[in-house]
Amino acid sequence: MIPANVIEDLKYRNRIEDVVGSYVTLSRSGANLKGLCPFHSEKTPSFTVFPNDGHYYCFGCGEGGDVITFTMKLENLDYRGALDFLAKRSGVTLPEDDKFTPKGVSRQRVLEMNKCAARFFRDMLFDPETGAPGREYLLGKRGLSSAVVKRFGLGYAPNSFNALRDHLRKNGFTREEMVEGYLCQVSKKNDKNIYDCFRNRVMFPIIDVTGNVIAFGGRVLDDSKPKYLNSADTPAFRKSRNLFALNYARNFCSENLILCEGYMDVIALHSAGFQNAVATLGTAITPDQARLMKRYSDKVVISYDSDEAGRKAASKALKLLSEAGVDSTVLKMQGAKDPDEYISKFGADRFKKLISEGRSEFDFKIDGIKERYDFDIPEQKVKAGNALVNEIASYYSVIEREVYIGKAAEVLGMPAESIKADVNRVLRKKRYAEKKTKREELIRSTSAIGDRVNPDEAKSIKCARLEKQVLGMMLSREEFMKAGTLKLNAEDFYTSLNKRLFEFIKKAYENGGFDIGMLGQEFVSDEISRAVAYKDDRERLNINTDKAFDEAAENLKAETARQKKKDEGGEDAFDLIARRRKEVNK
Ligand code: CTP
Ligand code: MN
Repeated sequence: MIPANVIEDLKYRNRIEDVVGSYVTLSRSGANLKGLCPFHSEKTPSFTVFPNDGHYYCFGCGEGGDVITFTMKLENLDYRGALDFLAKRSGVTLPEDDKFTPKGVSRQRVLEMNKCAARFFRDMLFDPETGAPGREYLLGKRGLSSAVVKRFGLGYAPNSFNALRDHLRKNGFTREEMVEGYLCQVSKKNDKNIYDCFRNRVMFPIIDVTGNVIAFGGRVLDDSKPKYLNSADTPAFRKSRNLFALNYARNFCSENLILCEGYMDVIALHSAGFQNAVATLGTAITPDQARLMKRYSDKVVISYDSDEAGRKAASKALKLLSEAGVDSTVLKMQGAKDPDEYISKFGADRFKKLISEGRSEFDFKIDGIKERYDFDIPEQKVKAGNALVNEIASYYSVIEREVYIGKAAEVLGMPAESIKADVNRVLRKKRYAEKKTKREELIRSTSAIGDRVNPDEAKSIKCARLEKQVLGMMLSREEFMKAGTLKLNAEDFYTSLNKRLFEFIKKAYENGGFDIGMLGQEFVSDEISRAVAYKDDRERLNINTDKAFDEAAENLKAETARQKKKDEGGEDAFDLIARRRKEVNK
């Protein structure tokens, strides 16, 4: 665990209003500051920074935390990465990770090891003998120039079970580091042995925007499977939060970014002069990656493979990117399966033209529907028409709907009025359904069923309510923190999230002090937001007396004990519903 005083010092040097202020335009509002929330899109500011105690909370989306969680989110870093970022920003040096945590492999060590491995793979590629198969593949078969190979730091993992292992060992890396860093794996036959994960593959280092080698992808030289092998998540790498080649593309994306599926597509595009190309790392695009792109560019050209899988992936990417506030278009690539092949067949100029002809979301959907249905068969034309009507009804703006109704009329060869009538019918139905789910949601939220962050809340609203009071008070004042750790045990908490929070806080408090920023070590951001909300809720009230705390603590003890007994007795679903009704109606 990283000591509280280190974190306190970092937070003191990195005032939350300054750090947030460098990303978000803030304006004063009483003692606090307000701005547009960077975590969801909004038009009126509900994102609030509380400089007095160094935290933020968005009343719109519920995101909350301190300067460390803010940095984690916006700079796309893990906990340790955020501490380093803030240390650098304020000109202090943090002690090595190992000094904080005697066990476990640090991010720093994995980064050092990756750098060493990347050099090794590169040296192997250019080794006259060992590297021949790799060079034959990259320079020969794939036709890359050696300049591009060098620019991307490509390499070759020799066909050996121990070449990298022995090299890393010589350079002082431990078995644990190699395994945790996903460069070696433990032998199934004899768990004393470890061996290289990447063998006889060309290697693609994945480099983050600050130049660290955070992971690797490796491709086979023939048609064997799996075609690509990628680092799993390690202390230095989160697949879902990084993009291949963003380290280069970030300097060329003022107009737009090109999003591809594969490493080779990106490399082909960069060689052809499109240095704004990036790729996801062997997975479908994630919301984190969409937000990451938004930070670098407002426009993305989706350039996925032209097959069915590629189209499906493009439709998902359109959705996630639009949710992240990115304007995107989809390329219509014909005569080639992917950008790499397209460029080698038709050249860079044709690709440039393709980009300028990128289809908007709706045109992309029309194309999909055209491909799926044969308009000459009446039944299929009806289906196509219904599909289009449903698409149009999904747009919120009246203007957009009008424009698309016009387009659909043209495509189907039908009067716009008919389409409009159907769109309106669908809209009415949707509105009715929406109202219904809203009502249901309201009921669910009052009874806390369906809470994903702390699912146990539904099992005992009473315990959860008391836990929130107790934790909120502990988090807001030192004296309650002390009282809570003395009076209560983890066993007095009923719901799992609150129990974990209490355990963590108690442990930290007893080991030299707790700071809310420490939660990043063990909790995900939704959970941290919850904790911050407990604290905020409590601070808004004017009744935080010793008596109120003692009462809440006592009641919690009693209620948890009662609830646990009841659980043993086995309350069935009917009892639960009956009790829930009573609680809601109270
Ligand atoms: N991928 C993966 N694991 C696989 C197959 C693919 O991680 N078994 C990822 C890789 O990042 C790859 C991307 O998905 O770059 C796209 O896959 P694919 O289209 O099959 O590969 P290409 O990029 O076209 O690779 P190549 O041209 O070398 O065949
Ligand atoms: Mn390809």
